[in-house]
Amino acid sequence: MFGRQRFLAAVNRERVDTTPVWFMRQAGRSLPEYRALRERHDFMTVATNPDLAAAATLMPVDRLGVDAAVLFADIMLPLASLGVPFEIRPGVGPVIADPIRSEADVERLSLLPAREATPYVMDALRVVKSELGERAALLGFAGAPFTLACYLIEGRPAREFPRAKALMYGQAKIWHQLMEKLTFVTIDYLREQIVAGADAVQLFDSWLGLLDPVSYADCVLPYTRRIFAAVTPLAPTIHFSTGTASLLAEIADSGCTAVSVDWRLPLDAAWDEAGPTVAIQGNLDPSLVLAPWPAVESGVRDVLKRASGRPGHIFNLGHGILPETDPEILARIVRLVHGES
Ligand code: CP3
Repeated sequence: MFGRQRFLAAVNRERVDTTPVWFMRQAGRSLPEYRALRERHDFMTVATNPDLAAAATLMPVDRLGVDAAVLFADIMLPLASLGVPFEIRPGVGPVIADPIRSEADVERLSLLPAREATPYVMDALRVVKSELGERAALLGFAGAPFTLACYLIEGRPAREFPRAKALMYGQAKIWHQLMEKLTFVTIDYLREQIVAGADAVQLFDSWLGLLDPVSYADCVLPYTRRIFAAVTPLAPTIHFSTGTASLLAEIADSGCTAVSVDWRLPLDAAWDEAGPTVAIQGNLDPSLVLAPWPAVESGVRDVLKRASGRPGHIFNLGHGILPETDPEILARIVRLVHGES
């Protein structure tokens, strides 16, 4: 099997010749060639230039031997559809000078089509697609409404996103109006990515682990369901979150094709929670990859043992690669996964 076919079979819970593997944040600072690119261009220049974004997307594919390429972009890019300026501050993350805090702020948000607001994302996908062939599946992605709302309301990264959560708890009308707009923009953005050649798309709900199950069901899940209802019929979808062991059953029932899980539950326990109707992606701890090889190797073998050859496992980390990771170790993990499963 070629990588693309292997990934697509696994996400659809069909038989594979060996377990497909890719890494979140594989196109990033752990690669010397990416760091060299970033010395010449700032982050937003790379993300908004289709040829540079395509080059960054392709960097890890041959070097690591992964079965999927994830588009070089950022969860913040669709804020262009809402007319919200933002900055990606090195070492900090997304920063928004004028956060969304009132009903008037939400009403002012525009709803530009992705094709007009972020044409460079679709162009980058087309460039990658034409170069990638069957070597690897091409993955698009978007930030989920809850995670984008956290940044939009807080204005910057935070440990607990207290302002965002307080607005969600205390100002339901504003919260739901904001989530409506984010849902609309996210559906359009993901559909356009599929039209442009994405084989599957991942929805990053990075901060979902901050929520209790009742708030999740009331304030977030209805929007997640709408996104997957609109997108999963067009291409396989992956739901990503961390620290959500208490939400996995609801997440698995949200209409996604696969659930990405972190290391806080062993893979078999997470899959039992999620149930047999979804594929599972994960779940090595990114910090473990910094340890000496024998520890990495036993971690990889443990994940594979817990997947026990069931159809529907996509090997990945439980969260993004840490910048200090040695790419040679990542390539070795890929060889081990492909050789052992
Ligand atoms: O390789 C890939 O996974 C594809 C590209 C990708 C990036 N960001 C590139 C990037 C993806 C999938 C993302 C998603 C993203 N961005 C998330 C969700 C995933 C997660 O980790 O939970 C989030 C929360 C963001 C927001 C964001 N953008 C952060 C926190 C940062 C890091 C800031 C820093 O300097 O520490 C960014 C910037 C960013 N996005 C980088 C990369 C490679 C590093 C920026 C650089 O090159 O200087």
